[in-house]
Formats: sequence, structure tokens, C-alpha cells
Amino acid sequence: MTAQPTEALSGTVKLPGDKSISHRALMLGGLAVGETTIDGLLEGEDVLCTAAAMRALGAEITRDDVGRWHVWGRGIGGLVEPDNVIDMGNSGTGARLLLGILASHPLTAVLTGDASLRGRPMARVTDPLSACGAEFIAREGGRLPLTVVGSRQPLPLDYELPVPSAQVKSAVLLAGLNAPGDTRVVEREATRDHSERMLAYFGATLRRNEIAVEGGRAEEIILSGQPELTGRPVQVPADPSSAAFPLVAALLLPGSEVRLIGVGMNPQRSGLLTTLQEMGGDIEITAAREEGGEPVADLLVRGGPLQGVEVPAERAPSMIDEYPVLAMAAAAAEGRTVMNGLGELRVKESDRLAAVARGLSLCGLKVEEGPDSLAVEGVKGRPPGGNNQPVETELDHRIAMSFLVLGMASERSVQIDDATPIATSFPDFTRLMQDLGAELSDA
Ligand code: S3P
Repeated sequence: MTAQPTEALSGTVKLPGDKSISHRALMLGGLAVGETTIDGLLEGEDVLCTAAAMRALGAEITRDDVGRWHVWGRGIGGLVEPDNVIDMGNSGTGARLLLGILASHPLTAVLTGDASLRGRPMARVTDPLSACGAEFIAREGGRLPLTVVGSRQPLPLDYELPVPSAQVKSAVLLAGLNAPGDTRVVEREATRDHSERMLAYFGATLRRNEIAVEGGRAEEIILSGQPELTGRPVQVPADPSSAAFPLVAALLLPGSEVRLIGVGMNPQRSGLLTTLQEMGGDIEITAAREEGGEPVADLLVRGGPLQGVEVPAERAPSMIDEYPVLAMAAAAAEGRTVMNGLGELRVKESDRLAAVARGLSLCGLKVEEGPDSLAVEGVKGRPPGGNNQPVETELDHRIAMSFLVLGMASERSVQIDDATPIATSFPDFTRLMQDLGAELSDA
């Protein structure tokens, strides 16, 4: 696919549902008693894999003709053994959270995924989950395909996260649902808390305390085991990580005016907004409200000049998926932008640090890639673009969308080698961007 230089974007967009929240709604719905209804579920490939997995484990899941999803759960501990391999596609969140659930169910399951997911580390969840009594047989490096033999008498877990990861935190909490007593997770850096919010909403008891740990302070999250979860209506907000693409595109194209409706504003997801505002981005936040236990707001974005900034490492967990698109904004800004604390980007759907650095160089930009940092020299205006070789997207939806945004804002068009991964998180991306005025073509 190729993105041509575009003049300006305008219009109002309704974005797809939040991917993190969509996975969790299907999983908790499948563990609850009674019916859960889900409005605004992201119907991207990643989430559809989770729906298929929960069905394979015995939950009844349907979509009605107004687009509302219905889940009839089996109750905690009530999932059944799947009769085939579960394929989680491209989804690290789906795979890791599901392993948490499976670890404390007395059944055997085999999980696999696409080439990207089969290359990603799973030991970060299988190590802590083993302590509840589950067994895992994985490929070298703890990779998929792997077999999990869930514990018959699960023990509660007590785990301090070695890396700031909402997926690991969630996997441990989900395993703790079917264990007696308290399961505790300690995190030194706050990560997205969608699991905690939704668990409480479905009827679980969670406590959060600030505690002293060696070298500083941390938060402990304590879940009381074996609660009764009750099916609930869930309203999924628009995904701030998907909103990031039309948002940055609008900022980079002078004369643009784009309104984004109902965007999730969870503080652990809003680091990109903070950074873009520090860069001078014209983003008006209006109609702040709460929907289904999550803060949301409408955003009005106008194009204009941006300044390079230094993004502190502490901000990384709240914008971890947004660095690729931030790097595109940095390319058009005035001066240098330095991003720190990016080690986790190397184990996403691709090595995003390397993929962004390589792609920007191909498009004529000066970048410096460190082990866990990236510096981009902004050109103050339209970057060159015009790559002779297509940018390699490496089965990574966010790399694909980021470079298409770059193409819209460049002097010459930008081509990517494969747009199909976009369907994992934002199936309507092309049409939605075209409706705003973007010029995207299949070639
Ligand atoms: C997610 C957590 C993050 C993020 C991913 C979604 C989640 O991963 O990158 O896209 O839904 O919990 P980590 O937990 O590995 O940081």
C-alpha cells in the first residue's frame, strides 16, 4: 500500500473499540455466570481470536445484527478442555492473558499463533504462572507453540513484575481468580489497569496499596480468590492507540481539523497526548465523561507546527504502543526528539525500535537507534519520503499504519510492503483515513 502526500484532513471519526478492553470483556464474560453484553467490541483479528478461544473453552459467544456481542460464561473454574489447538493469531495480549486463565483450570491446551507471535517471549508469563501449579512445555526461549497443563489445585500467586507489563500483571490476576486466598502483584511502574477495573466491575474484590520496596515505592494489587463474577453490560471506549493515527496525521497536515469521538482517556494510556501537547500540538479535549468504568473524551485536533522534545523513560508504560507513530511526528517537528526507556519495544509484534529506525532512514530521515532509545532529527515540515524500497512492516500493524501516516505528511509518497496486519487492530483504517481526505492506494 502507498500513502500519497495529502493536503489536509477534515471530518469527524468514530474509531474502533479498545483492543485491550475488548479482549478482557470476552475473557471475563466467559468466566462470569450469566450473560455479558458488549457494545463497541473491536472486531479486529486479534479480538476475534480471543472470541474463538473462549468458545473453544466452552463459553457461548454470539454477535447480533445490531453489532452487540453476547457472552454466556461458564463461571470461574468452569471452562472445558478445548478439542483442538488454539490459534491466537498475532495477539500477544490474547495469548498471555489466556495462559493466565488456563493455568488455574484443570485442563490441557495447546496454544499457537502467527510467525510474529511464535517469536515472542512467553516465559514472562509462564514463569510466574508455574508457581500456581501449572506446567508448561514450550519451545526454546519459552515460545509458542506451547502446551499448558493447568493446575488441579491452583495456589494463589505473589509476584513482583520484573518489567512494567499489563499483560503479565493481568495473567497473574486472572490465574488468581480460581485460587483460594489472596493473589498479589507488585508493580514499580504503573501499567494500564483495565483488568483491575473490569474485574471489580464484574464483582471481584481488589485492593491497591502503596508500599515501600527496595529502592523506592511500588503498588501492590491484591485480588481475593474465587469470587463469583456476574455477567455485566460492557461499553468499550474507542481505542486511544488507534486514535493515535488520525490524530498524528491531522497534527502534521496544516489546515486539518479532525474530531475524534469517545476516545479512552485512561491515565495509563494517555502518554502520547501529553507528549504531543508538549510538542505544541493543538489538541482540545472536550466532553470528558465516564463510560463503563473508563474515562473517555472527545478530541478536536488541528494541524500546525510541532517542536522536538525529550520524552522521559517513566512515560513509556503509558504510551508503549504509540512510539512508532510519535516517531513520525518527530520526523516533521522542528529539532531533535529523543525517546528513552524503549527496551520493551523490541519484543512487540516486531522489534519496533529497529523497524522504525530502518523505515525512517529509508524515507530520508536522520535517526540514532540506541539499545533502548531512539533519537529522530526533525526536518521542520514535510519529511522527504519517497523510499525506493517499501518499508518492511514485519507482521506489525502499528509499523504499517505509522509509515502510512508518514507518507501523508511527506514530500513524496511512502510505500509499505504489507498492509494486511492492519486488520488485527484497525480493520477500517484505510476507509476511515480516506473519508478524512487521505490518499491511500493499494499499489
Ligand atoms: C497490553 C499491554 C501492553 C501493550 C499491548 C496491550 C494489554 O503490552 O503493548 O499492546 O492489553 O495488557 P505489555 O504488557 O507487554 O507492556
